[in-house]
Parts: sequence; C-alpha cells; structure tokens
Amino acid sequence: MTLTLDPENGILDPCPQITPRYLSDLKMMFKDQQVVDEILKEENRLIYEIRYYPFRTSKSDMALAVTRIFPGSIGGEYHMTKGHKHERDDQPEVYYCVKGEGFLLLDTLEGEFQAIPWRAGTITHIPPMWAHRVINTGTDLLVFIGVFHLSAGHDYEIVAQKGFSYRVYAVDGKPALIRQT
Ligand code: PA5
Ligand code: NI
Repeated sequence: MTLTLDPENGILDPCPQITPRYLSDLKMMFKDQQVVDEILKEENRLIYEIRYYPFRTSKSDMALAVTRIFPGSIGGEYHMTKGHKHERDDQPEVYYCVKGEGFLLLDTLEGEFQAIPWRAGTITHIPPMWAHRVINTGTDLLVFIGVFHLSAGHDYEIVAQKGFSYRVYAVDGKPALIRQT
C-alpha cells in the first residue's frame, strides 16, 4: 500500500477516516476554563484534525495518522493535541514533524518529563508508557505523522486526570513552558 502526503497542507490520499477535534472535544485540557466557556459561546473552534490510515494484512497491523494542528491559543495556551498514553504498556510510536514548529511533550505522569523542540524534519521515538502531546507554537499549520501498532490503544482518561507536568503558553509572543503544581 502506498499513500501520498502533501507536506504543505497535511492532506493524505487515500484517507478513509478523518477525525476533527473541536474545542468542545478537548475543553478540559486547557487551563483557563472561563476563557474556554467564553469562546464556546461564540464558536466551537476546530483545533486539529487527524487523518488516519490502517495498514491491515493477515499478519501485521500498523497504522499511520497525520495530524494537522491549526495555529492559535486559548487563554494564552497554544493549540495542542488532547494527549494520551497507549493502553498497552509495550507499545511505542514514531512521530515525524512534516511542517511547522512547536513542542512534543513526553510525560510518564509519574514525575519524568521532556519537552522536545519541534520543527519540520524532526523525528522522535516515543517509548512505551510515556504520555504524548504536540503543541503548535507557530503562526502556521503544524503537520506531523504518527506511526504505531493498531493494537496500541489510546488512554485519554489518565491524561485528563493527572495532566502533563508543563503547559506551553505564549509569553511576549514567545513559547514558555510553565510548570503545573
Ligand atoms: O496515535 C497518535 O499518537 C496520534 O496519531 C494521535 O492520536 C493524534 O496526533 C491526535 O492526538 P490525540 O490522540 O492525543 O488526540
Ligand atoms: Ni500515540
């Protein structure tokens, strides 16, 4: 199976499944709930989209997902993915940043944390057991590819409960990592 990705806009072809994530879908992930509610009264903003392709054969089950995060911020906090840990504790992932700039946050949710600066061309291996979230700190689209095993599973609940150790805010127009207590 061969797919084509347009690196300028993150459009994948063919693409059997597109999942949009609106502000209402990741409402609880942003710190400033008052600002979230104010924005939601006006518009349910599209924060990012996932374009997904499962490679199924009789003996293997890889999947590829292209994520397009639109630029912007909510209460000073940059647009980001919901973030998750894989349900299976033996499942890693590879992320490849195709376009844009930002950070990949990696967090065990048990005290260990890393923020990897990202730009087009950056490839990061996400070890099993590490929660992962991508932040778009740029003024343009951020596009990245994730490759993982179909059985990995996505645990969003643990991230909603524990939260990442740092949030990324725009401070004087520049990204700043702010530790969460
Ligand atoms: O499998 C992955 O890690 C990615 O394809 C993500 O699912 C994608 O980037 C969207 O992020 P999230 O699943 O946290 O909403
Ligand atoms: Ni993942």
